[in-house]
Amino acid sequence: MSINQNTSPTLEDIVSLCKRRGFVYPSAEIYGGLNGVYDFGHLGTLLKKNIRAAWLQSIQQAIPHGQIVQFEGPILGPQAVWEASGHLKNFHDPMVDCLNCKHRYRADEIDLNKPCPHCGIKNWTAPRQFNMMFKTHVGAMEDGSSVAYLRPETAQSIFINFKNIYTTSRVKMPFGVSQIGKAFRNEITPKQFLFRMREFEQMEIEWFCKKEDALAFYDTWCASRFAFYQSIGIRSSHTRLRTHEKDELAHYSTATSDVEYQFAFGWKELEGIAYRGDFDLKQHSEHSGKDLSVFDEETKTAYIPHVVECSVGVDRLFLTLFFDSYYEDEAEGEKRIALRFHPRIAPYKAAFFPLTKKQELQMKPIYERMVQAGYSVVYDESGSIGKRYRRQDEIGTPVCFTYDFESDMDMMVTVRDRDSMKQERIAIDRIEEFMKNLLK
Ligand code: GAP
Repeated sequence: MSINQNTSPTLEDIVSLCKRRGFVYPSAEIYGGLNGVYDFGHLGTLLKKNIRAAWLQSIQQAIPHGQIVQFEGPILGPQAVWEASGHLKNFHDPMVDCLNCKHRYRADEIDLNKPCPHCGIKNWTAPRQFNMMFKTHVGAMEDGSSVAYLRPETAQSIFINFKNIYTTSRVKMPFGVSQIGKAFRNEITPKQFLFRMREFEQMEIEWFCKKEDALAFYDTWCASRFAFYQSIGIRSSHTRLRTHEKDELAHYSTATSDVEYQFAFGWKELEGIAYRGDFDLKQHSEHSGKDLSVFDEETKTAYIPHVVECSVGVDRLFLTLFFDSYYEDEAEGEKRIALRFHPRIAPYKAAFFPLTKKQELQMKPIYERMVQAGYSVVYDESGSIGKRYRRQDEIGTPVCFTYDFESDMDMMVTVRDRDSMKQERIAIDRIEEFMKNLLK
């Protein structure tokens, strides 16, 4: 039987699979958990690593001859950074409390004309603004001079380092700076598992260019970012590019488009592409008193570069990949779950099985050769072959190789495809070539 259409998994299906197979665990679970924070097990860690690598490769190929340099800033930033960036003043969500049961909600997510969804009584506080940054103190003194914040986006550390990067990286305008790293938001209501977390990871690129070129680059980045999701196997029928209305724009943005994905809980933002103008560099230049302009040799004038930004969460893309890849069907009379991850994204690219314990001596060296060749692969000899297939299907391994009784004679193994469940025989000395083609 071939695999069914995607079976529209619920969020619960995905949370349960992630826990069962060691992708994601609730954080600090033995102490009752920490809302909006998650831990990643072995397979989750491999998946995240593949997501980061695919993203990095895609942005490096987005603009022909476009230079992109990498950057890693700190998680902590002094108050002055967030004053200049506008986050202290603007990075708020509206919040209301139910005076009866004390439940807290985002005011823009519930109908205040109706009773509290938790206790059924209508007794709301007036909505008030809640700043989502985590505040802390650096050093032993808790006075105003030691106030720092955990970054709510990775972008600001790039902006404040613009001059350092520009003068030391041998880049010419236009160019990009990319960063992958943790961001923190004290979300009023973290929800939908990895969709809205309090601690998460962002992949951001800031593309610096001249004002007159910025809108053309914005269009190029929108097209390229949209295409990225298909290149890693996400169905185009479930993604769309949506341009923000003027009243939706963030405080720094003059134009924004979101790549949206159709989750079980509706169309939601997966990635934001924003034309930030010269807002950030201008703000930091004014607040720090440092010149952040570049000199244009052609016109012999100095100017502050404009910025196009692309920003996506590693964890949100992780969740999207689960929703998009989750399939259910039947095999040998039993329910089968398969994650149809693109081979580049799959935690393991292949599994290697000896049919029985007797073939271990022959299969182990084949598996070891693939490890030495740099492939992320797994060896499994426990349980029936059917059970082993099922185990690999559920974690998204694209193919399984089995060394059986005939292999000694014909020097071939069976290769079984996760999606079609078809099997064919392949010469042992062609396995590496097969793996190369799989990952093309
Ligand atoms: N620097 C721009 C910026 O931070 P954003 O739209 O607030 O823009 C960018 O965030 C991306 O970061 C989102 O599209 C989403 O993928 C991810 N993201 C934002 N908040 C998140 C949260 N609370 N949990 C998980 N991912 C989040």
